Formats: sequence, structure tokens, C-alpha cells
Amino acid sequence: GLLNPKMVAKGKKYFGSIADPNTLSNSNVQTILKSDFGAITPENSMKWDATEPSKGSFTFTNADQTVAFATNNGRLIRGHTLVWHSQLPSWVSAISDKDTLTSVIKNHVTTLMSRYKGKIYAWDVVNEIFDDSGNFRNSVFYNVLGESFVDIAFIAARAADPAAKLYINDYNLDGPGAKINSLVALVGRLKSRGVPIDGIGTQAHLILGQVGGVAAQLQVLANTGLDVAITELDIRIPKDVTSAKLAQQQTDYNTVTKACLGVSKCVGITVWGVSDANSWVDSTFPTYDSPLLWDDYFNRKLAYTGVDSAL
Ligand code: XIL
Repeated sequence: GLLNPKMVAKGKKYFGSIADPNTLSNSNVQTILKSDFGAITPENSMKWDATEPSKGSFTFTNADQTVAFATNNGRLIRGHTLVWHSQLPSWVSAISDKDTLTSVIKNHVTTLMSRYKGKIYAWDVVNEIFDDSGNFRNSVFYNVLGESFVDIAFIAARAADPAAKLYINDYNLDGPGAKINSLVALVGRLKSRGVPIDGIGTQAHLILGQVGGVAAQLQVLANTGLDVAITELDIRIPKDVTSAKLAQQQTDYNTVTKACLGVSKCVGITVWGVSDANSWVDSTFPTYDSPLLWDDYFNRKLAYTGVDSAL
């Protein structure tokens, strides 16, 4: 499997995937997570809508189950995610005054991180805060608090679990341009203000044949001095899937895996799912298919060999 001594030998990087009770209920998923992955990210169970659906009322049933699976099997956990405009309950979006939103962010961050204190390797503290033009995304957090919402979240996060690595996470950081420039500039401002931040996550939801920029951009992110991680890797294939495209996908996964192995600050890779049968791509990008390492029937794809041969 992928989780083997080779991964440890190459600079102790981890190779992870996602889980939650809905996928852990499939025995194939559990078997593969145990044989091939050293880290787990809860796919949905730690998001705001899942954990604090109404103000001050927290639900942890699903997150607890995922954390228990990971810790019982000795896997690292990436906590995902604390402050995000999406999967955000409407009671949060409706807040319009700074003091209320500040205390709501602090309470949410502190409650989640305290519950799993000491069990989480890294937390995605803020997620997808820039648009593709490099401007702050139009969210309740930015609209009410400006950039300071980032400081508020990271400062609360460090206080809640000082051992957890604190990440900013985003997508479309796979090529040069305004978005990665804005993110790097923000990291510089955070550091100059003394805001605690440890890492940058690049989601890497990639498209077949368009992975050539990943290595260079990982190095751009690493040049901030922070850790970097590939946090949500998948490589989706434009329909229809052919054997030639599946072979290209093997090459692409090999390229991306080598990109992380080649950047000393890259701590690991998380693939956003096990089987093509359970990928978010089916509903989100209906003209694409088959983005992962195992097919709909839990058979290893060429993409698996692409990763394995890079390790
Ligand atoms: C996705 C999940 O995979 C889906 O099950 C859910 O319906 C929507 O969110 N960026 C992120 C992830 O940071 O949390 C998203 O996960 C995929 C895009």
C-alpha cells in the first residue's frame, strides 16, 4: 500500500485521505484507509453547519466518530475547517455587528479546538478567503470585520490548542497569478503583526493534464517560511473517461506526488476521497468524472500506481 516505509523514508511526509461516518460505513473504505493512508481529514463533520447549527448549540456525533477512527488507528488528523463562507449556517451569515461576530468566531474556534485538543495535527483555521482575482471573498466575516477576522481566528486557535499547526487553506493556488500573490502577501502581513500561523494548504482540485504548475507554486508558498501541504488533491477527468485519459491521470498523480516530495517544506498530501464512487466531483463538476485513486468498485486505478511509483 501507499502507507509504507517508503513514505517515512522520504522525509516523514504523510499521505492522507478523508473520512466521515457516511463513508466509514463501507468496509472497503475502512480497509483502504488502514492499508494506504497515514492521515485523515473529516470531509464534512467538522464544518460549521455540522458542529454549530444554531448559536452556542454544538453537535459532535459525526466528528467524534471520525476522530475515534483516526486515533484508534494511529493516524494524523487534519481538522477542517473553522472559518469558511460555505456550509455556514444562516444564523452566522445574518450577524452584522463586529462585537457579536468576533465573539461568535472566538467561541466556535475555541469550542471545536478544545474538544479535540492534543489529537489534531493541523487545523484549517480559515478556508477559501480569497476569490480568483485575489480579493477577499465577499463573506460575512470580511464584510463585517475586514481582514481582522483572520487575526481573530488564528489568535483564538493558538490559544485553544497550542500544539496544533494552524493553516490557511485555499484552491486555485496551482498556477501563478493574483490569487496566490494575495495569499502570500496576507501571510506576510500576518507574520508582521505577530499573528500565529504555521502553514499554507493548497487544495489542489486539479484537472487532467493541468498539473504542471504545482511544483513551482508549492515552492512559492514554501518561500513564505511556513509549512505547506496539499490538502484536497483530486484530478478530475473531462467526460468521457478513456483508457488514454486514465493513463494521463497516472502521469499527473505521479507529477503532483513528486512535487510535494521535492519541496522540503511540503509536509504531506491528502487526497479528497478514496473511491470515485464517493467523490464530491460527481455533483459539483458534472461534466467531469473519476478523480481519485480507486474506481467505483474499489479497484486500484493507474492513478494509484502513479502515486506509488513516486514514493
Ligand atoms: C466538499 C465535500 O467533499 C462535499 O461532501 C460537500 O458536499 C461540500 O464540500 N473545498 C473544501 C472542502 O474545502 O471542504 C469541500 O468538500 C471541497 C472544496
